[in-house]
Amino acid sequence: MKMILDTSGVSKNFKSVEALRDVSISIAPGERVALLGHNGAGKTTLLRIVLGFLRMDEGTVEINGHAPGSAAARRLVSYLPESVAFPKMLTGREIVSYYAKLKGVAKDEVMPTLEKVDLVDAADRRCGTYSKGMRQRLGLAQALVGQPQLLLLDEPTTGLDPVSRQRFYTLLSDIADKGTAVLLSSHGLSELEAKTDRVAILRDGRLVADAPLPELQLAAKLPIRIRIQSTTEDVEQVHNRFGGKRINGAAVEFVCAQPEKMERLSAISELGGAVTDVDVSSPSLDEVYRYFSLRDEQKGADK
Ligand SMILES: Nc1ncnc2c1ncn2[C@@H]1O[C@H](COP(=O)(O)OP(=O)(O)OP(=O)(O)O)[C@@H](O)[C@H]1O
Ligand SMILES: [Mg+2]
Repeated sequence: MKMILDTSGVSKNFKSVEALRDVSISIAPGERVALLGHNGAGKTTLLRIVLGFLRMDEGTVEINGHAPGSAAARRLVSYLPESVAFPKMLTGREIVSYYAKLKGVAKDEVMPTLEKVDLVDAADRRCGTYSKGMRQRLGLAQALVGQPQLLLLDEPTTGLDPVSRQRFYTLLSDIADKGTAVLLSSHGLSELEAKTDRVAILRDGRLVADAPLPELQLAAKLPIRIRIQSTTEDVEQVHNRFGGKRINGAAVEFVCAQPEKMERLSAISELGGAVTDVDVSSPSLDEVYRYFSLRDEQKGADK
């Protein structure tokens, strides 16, 4: 499939700081990719290179075959920067209209875009009176107008409450379903679970992971947690059978490796009435993220 974004061997130094080192990442139309990494890992630098705001030292970047910053690339890409600031005196409608005009988009797209981010009621209020979350949503509206093919969002959920965050991810799925690719950076690791197709992790400018979350979970070989809810009479028997730790009197929790999961579950079902409920938790994105960060640290220490 033709990629909307193709970066290969991208490196960028700021004097002595190695911000990016040999980063290769591709995104297909309609794909949602989360770009994770600690502060200073190189996320914003990568986005700015794709936008053509910064020049890379080495490597290649193509947006549907076009050079970053070229007129053809600019038509395809939209950006929500890390910190959005709009002139306080302008209303939400005026701001989105301005961006629509810049992109050559018809005026009648403005209100539907504001509707997508739930700002219709505040459309004619000056954005200086908006809350932080409203300003963030206005930033998103500005990026969405004109139906871009590639959306670059730098920490888009900062300042959003849990309900707005949920809405934001629903909106993102709708956009991706229509073929727009999304690359979004985030620190909110656990909020991303099942909401992106792939997770890319940058560490000190290097890409240390790039795969769908289930693949990363498998590759990390992190244990699975199983919690068995039993009865007070039977909990001892369950504990003797599986080990682990006892929780709240009538529950037992233990960990097992991914390949052993099914075997354990069938052993649990053999206990019949002694088991009243079973909870199986796969490693969270936070745990997977920690694993990849740590693994790289260990690699560095081995050198
Ligand atoms: N214009 C610049 N001049 C000098 N150094 C820079 C510049 N921009 C970024 N850097 C450095 O490059 C590295 C990567 O920065 P970048 O902003 O890409 O990180 P980030 O992953 O976006 O971090 P954060 O999560 O804090 O936003 C950092 O060490 C930063 O100090
Ligand atoms: Mg950043």
